[in-house]
Amino acid sequence: HAADALRTDLMTITRYVLNEQSKHPESRGDFTILLSHIVLGCKFVCSSVNKAGLAKLIGLAGETNVQAKQKKLDVLSNDVFVKALVSSGRTCILVSEEDEEATFVEPALRGRYCVVFDPLDGSSNIDCGVSIGTIFGIYMVKDFTEPTLDQALQPGKNMVAAGYCMYGSSCTLVLSTGSGVNGFTLDPSLGEFILTHPDIKIPKKGKIYSVNEGNAKNWDGPTAKYVENCKFPKEGSSPKSLRYIGSMVADVHRTLLYGGIFLYPADKKSPSGKLRVLYEVFPMSFLMEQAGGQAFTGKERALDLVPKKIHERSPIFLGSYDDVEEIKALYAAEA
Ligand code: AHG
Ligand code: MN
Ligand code: MN
Ligand code: MN
Repeated sequence: HAADALRTDLMTITRYVLNEQSKHPESRGDFTILLSHIVLGCKFVCSSVNKAGLAKLIGLAGETNVQAKQKKLDVLSNDVFVKALVSSGRTCILVSEEDEEATFVEPALRGRYCVVFDPLDGSSNIDCGVSIGTIFGIYMVKDFTEPTLDQALQPGKNMVAAGYCMYGSSCTLVLSTGSGVNGFTLDPSLGEFILTHPDIKIPKKGKIYSVNEGNAKNWDGPTAKYVENCKFPKEGSSPKSLRYIGSMVADVHRTLLYGGIFLYPADKKSPSGKLRVLYEVFPMSFLMEQAGGQAFTGKERALDLVPKKIHERSPIFLGSYDDVEEIKALYAAEA
């Protein structure tokens, strides 16, 4: 059947979220409006990333954020998301990797959501055209007329939604609103994200591990032992394959679809690891759990962590349920 090859019933991301919303009669469409502004930001960044080399968007911006040098695309993406989120009229607090301080939205435009985001993840991969992404997490704030910073410092399990958009060989937005995970692919000719990966479940066990092995000399015992087991498994099982892109979004996306484990452990030089709790660790951990996987910090369930600072870091091990069980056992044995 020719029509079978072609999608004709288009479940756009807006239609999907409106469907979800209709299950909650008390909801007033605020989340749908917020998400449509995030989607707009993702489309803009996607288009900028695609023409980065042509539009002279490659290279450094000349500024430094709290943690590192900023690329032109870091700055541009941040500007677009901040403006889209503020103008949605549905946010009161914004936390971005690129801004040292949280943004408190002016009273006239305040809404009840706090959004934490990494506008452009994997910036070291921009200049060579390798996959990069945007990560976001959304909290509901109790009293949004008087927002305070502690409303942004809630444990990850309090998030009402989380997602990422990957600017890869295609542009894919993966979203969870707390009832499973769904993937949408941008149809550039329509300018719409279409549901292409309904109800994503991560395989219970995987064949891939993903870590920056260049840091191995500084790892702690359990991490070193785990990676050793990946390469030289006990009699009878085969070794895992190694895949590491160096863009968290791309490495996590592959882990979600193919199974396996992604690790950014602590090491002697960075005792809290590298990845940031609010806008990297939490959203990805939320998605992993929603897809049936696990996320562990080396000490506890990642989503139980209560951050004290907005740019706090944490070690993270996330992926297939069984693979994360193994690293948990190694840390438990050491304690
Ligand atoms: P960002 O580009 O947003 O600053 O994040 C970079 C992160 C993340 O994308 C990736 O997982 C990690 O850096 C890679 O770090 P290493 O180069 O140390 O492996
Ligand atoms: Mn950065
Ligand atoms: Mn990042
Ligand atoms: Mn970033």
